[in-house]
Amino acid sequence: MAQTETIAAKKQLFINGEWVGTETYKPLYSPYSNEEIAQVPSATAEDVDKAINAAFKATDIMAEMAAHERAAILENVARIFEERADEAAAIVASEAAKPIKTAQAEVSRTIATYKFAAEEAKRIHGETIPMDAAPGGENRIAYTVREPLGVIGAITPFNFPMNLVAHKVGPAIASGNTVVLKPAGQTPLSSLFLAEVFQEAGLPAGALNVVTGSGAVIGEVLVKDDRVKKISFTGSPAVGIGIRNKAGLKRVTLELGSNAAVIIDRGIDLDKIIARCVAGAFAFQGQVCISLQRAYVHEDLYEEFVEKMVAATNKLKLGDPQDPSTDVSALISPKDVERALAWIEEAKQGGANIAAGGVSEGNMLHPTILTGVDAELKVSCQEVFAPIIVINKVASVQEAIDQVNNSRYGLQAGIYTENIHTALMATKKLHVGGVMVNDIPTFRVDHMPYGGVKESGVGREGVKYAIEEMTELKLVVFNQNY
Ligand code: SIN
Repeated sequence: MAQTETIAAKKQLFINGEWVGTETYKPLYSPYSNEEIAQVPSATAEDVDKAINAAFKATDIMAEMAAHERAAILENVARIFEERADEAAAIVASEAAKPIKTAQAEVSRTIATYKFAAEEAKRIHGETIPMDAAPGGENRIAYTVREPLGVIGAITPFNFPMNLVAHKVGPAIASGNTVVLKPAGQTPLSSLFLAEVFQEAGLPAGALNVVTGSGAVIGEVLVKDDRVKKISFTGSPAVGIGIRNKAGLKRVTLELGSNAAVIIDRGIDLDKIIARCVAGAFAFQGQVCISLQRAYVHEDLYEEFVEKMVAATNKLKLGDPQDPSTDVSALISPKDVERALAWIEEAKQGGANIAAGGVSEGNMLHPTILTGVDAELKVSCQEVFAPIIVINKVASVQEAIDQVNNSRYGLQAGIYTENIHTALMATKKLHVGGVMVNDIPTFRVDHMPYGGVKESGVGREGVKYAIEEMTELKLVVFNQNY
């Protein structure tokens, strides 16, 4: 597919509604072909300061904008995305090596996220408080309102460069905030495309600013600047914990990944779930925070599950992300291929069996199935972020729950069971942010609350829930008897 005009050579920063240059630019390479696809500006600390200043100056205009006007801008964004959907998907496929059919699905979700944001913009409200419930509270009328925080610093990952950006920018604009957006180093083009879309949609200058470049430079300024009232970050635990430690009294939402697991109880018809488990493990090369990394299968079904997973996995087609028949393409960087291979080798040395894959081809790692893996090995206990699944045999659901919970992470988990008592018990005992009964942990639609416990992060996304975290609750009390 031809490169779109948006992907063409030299890009600019988007600050205060204008496209501006900077001192240095860095080449951006395709993770699949290693070809240069753009020259991307490396924002300096001064550029970031200008972006914060623009966002800060725009806070009044956004805070005073009527809800229906904010909704209309977000509806425009959704409409423009619909009109430019092919272009948006081609950008994602190009810069992230996301197979085009998966990129198209991401763009559809992005449109849904902006539509949810437009709807939620119109129902941000507080509640009335029955003040006379407490002695001394008589003759008072009280209510709460939700006010925007001001400037939000959004730091976003490479794996959903359109939709995980939408999960920060959509709620922020819906609730009358302004944004300084720092996209992942490998996927700046999606965010620069988004700036064009918001500009055309009628967003006031300064309400969205996009600064590309080094996370260390930009993140440091965003986290330390007092004008930025909240950081919303999706990425690695190490960076997230660093942000939290430096953020002081700023609000922080952190979405930090996991080694997500599914439990498969006895009595499940495996033919109904294999395709779903393969998709959960290998979609976008496993580079999804809720990718299916660990399966705990009842011993009655274990051999059959492994056999059927291997057969379905071996049918996946590896190749060019722009080819509509491709299922699996390159990992985001050669370093990640090396890391994944090293983790597989460690598992092999530790006695694991490689039932499928385990080898690379260019920057692609063949979808890999491992069995007999010790729970302490990296492929099992760390976030693998590569097309690797570890299948474990268990004697009971209780044993599986203990294994799932034996993790630093707790984002989402899945359980397939025909037994309602087992399902209810699992929903109670699994220590995660979301339990999917009769589904994989990878399930997500964009209005549901999404976030984790333990090292998977703090706070929730999902448009309505993100809005709660991006607004301040203010109490108003009228004394009728003064
Ligand atoms: C993530 O990787 O955290 C996002 C998963 C999704 O939105 O499907």
